[in-house]
Amino acid sequence: MCGIVGYVGSRQAAPIVVNGLNRLAYRGYDSAGLAVIGEQGLALRRSVGKLENLSRLLESNPVFGSIGIGHTRWATHGSVTETNTHPHIDCAGQVVVIQNGIVENYLELKQALVAEGHTFRSQTDTEVIAHLVEKYLCGGADLATAVRHALALLRGANAVVVLATRYPDQIVAARLGNAGGVTVGLGDGEIWVASDLPAILEHTQRVVFLEDREMAVLSRDGAQYLRLDGTPLAKKIETIAWDPVAAARGRYKHFMQKEIYEQPRSLIDALRGRVDFEAAEVRLEGLPFHPDQLRGLGRIHTVACGTAWHAGLLGKYMIESLARLPVEVDYGSEFRYRDPLIQANDLVLAISQSGETVDTLAAMEEARRKGAPTLAIVNAVGSQAARLADGVIYLHAGPEIGVASTKAFTSMLVAQYLLAIYLGQTRGTLGLAERRRLLQQLAELPNLVGQVLADDGPCPELAERYQHCRDFLFLGRGINYPVALEGALKLKEISYIHAEGYPAGEMKHGPIALIDAQMPVVAIVGRDHVREKMLSNIEQVKARGGVVIAVADGEDAEVAAKADHVVPVPQFSPLLAPVLNVLPLQLLAYHVAVRRGCDVDQPRNLAKSVTVE
Ligand code: F6R
Repeated sequence: MCGIVGYVGSRQAAPIVVNGLNRLAYRGYDSAGLAVIGEQGLALRRSVGKLENLSRLLESNPVFGSIGIGHTRWATHGSVTETNTHPHIDCAGQVVVIQNGIVENYLELKQALVAEGHTFRSQTDTEVIAHLVEKYLCGGADLATAVRHALALLRGANAVVVLATRYPDQIVAARLGNAGGVTVGLGDGEIWVASDLPAILEHTQRVVFLEDREMAVLSRDGAQYLRLDGTPLAKKIETIAWDPVAAARGRYKHFMQKEIYEQPRSLIDALRGRVDFEAAEVRLEGLPFHPDQLRGLGRIHTVACGTAWHAGLLGKYMIESLARLPVEVDYGSEFRYRDPLIQANDLVLAISQSGETVDTLAAMEEARRKGAPTLAIVNAVGSQAARLADGVIYLHAGPEIGVASTKAFTSMLVAQYLLAIYLGQTRGTLGLAERRRLLQQLAELPNLVGQVLADDGPCPELAERYQHCRDFLFLGRGINYPVALEGALKLKEISYIHAEGYPAGEMKHGPIALIDAQMPVVAIVGRDHVREKMLSNIEQVKARGGVVIAVADGEDAEVAAKADHVVPVPQFSPLLAPVLNVLPLQLLAYHVAVRRGCDVDQPRNLAKSVTVE
């Protein structure tokens, strides 16, 4: 994820900003830049590659001034070039903007601005914000108002920080949606803004977190907060502990909770540098497979364990539907011992958060022995799975500390969605218009995830009510069946409640005997071709005195009429809906475990990397 750092005070801004960016380097980036306002006016320095390059540039061509903003970019829109590196400027070179997130409607905004006479320099979505702010400043608005008007036109989830030469003492920072944090650090006569705490904790422990649709106007005298509708806001100052573990958890009680809430960002990170939205193409650079080899593939064998196996089941729907390529999904521990039939034109896809799971590694070795090429979808950089595979797609989800996998799971889904589109475009099963539609949906996903995670919805209340149950049943059909499996796994592993995931159609073949008022049934109901069937399954549960918690479109009146409780999720494209549907299941498991006094981050008997058979 990109890093944002801003400073206004009495010291030189550039070294403070660069130092802060260095502290965020662990998040990954491909280029970096900063803008400083001083006596010489606005100075901009940007460079591709490591932060050392920016530092060298600043040594040879220094900038002076005590107000500045900087950014480490990790490309979503446009290639890795100096021109695409943030900050971005308006036509007159008087407004500079940095942004984290995705401006979903940037193409239409850009077209309108170009028609009004604005000249664009970069291929990024962010540059539209600089031109919009310019437009409102020219219309007579002050900086905060111009930023508010500009943000009102954006669709998506964004963290935005703006400087303007006409306001040489102000930084305006704003947050729209839940894709990226904006934290203000308060000092004495100086003030910081950053996307993440590590950038500012060495300077101050007194911080203010901006929420969705809030903004801050920062100056040497302090900060003023307002809502994006212009109403003033009183914000609570929080004091962050120095303890490095507590600092890493930030404002969250547990790593699992933090990682659940990080998902809008981790999903953006999963698609960075891999999508050309203008050409509607997926670019999985560095994969060693020739297009002819991909066109000639006969089958994919996915191997994984636990949550990653559930992700593999979901990927099967994506790849089969978009690339028309059959996919078999195996547990690593089964595949390695079942003497699988692998043809020379098959591909073995290994999925693993840690990249160290011994059964998954053994399955990859088995594939190698049988002469099949291997591709790994992995989070941990440089892990064994990454080294063993012929090709790697990294999740870039950042470290996952909680033993129960959450953000890695949803990133595995996005990685497979990208792989499915990539295979589809290479194999000719997806035309341009279809790819454009699929990629637009992907661009909208992080913001929707942020909306679902805007609060915990009814999950805390449901957890309070059902925390003492001994069993739970999770039901889903089609693409939501693996979501049911994942919901059950999350609950059982951290709360120690017995939970089973079942394809809803199989309920009548056995599990229906278990139904009573003591066993909540969680039903995942999509707006898809099996919705009617799920509704009848809910009725079957109700007819036997069962309790139904439905995860469904909040607007679906029929579900609301039949279920005891509805956890609302937005209606979305069937292939990506599982990413949204799993979120309340993660939250439900989390809240139940907290109420039962369980060790959420380190559940008993479990390890983060399972390196034994
Ligand atoms: C469940 C969980 C485990 C892992 C499994 C595979 O929350 O974390 O089921 O998914 O042990 O681990 P990786 O993905 O590291 O191969």
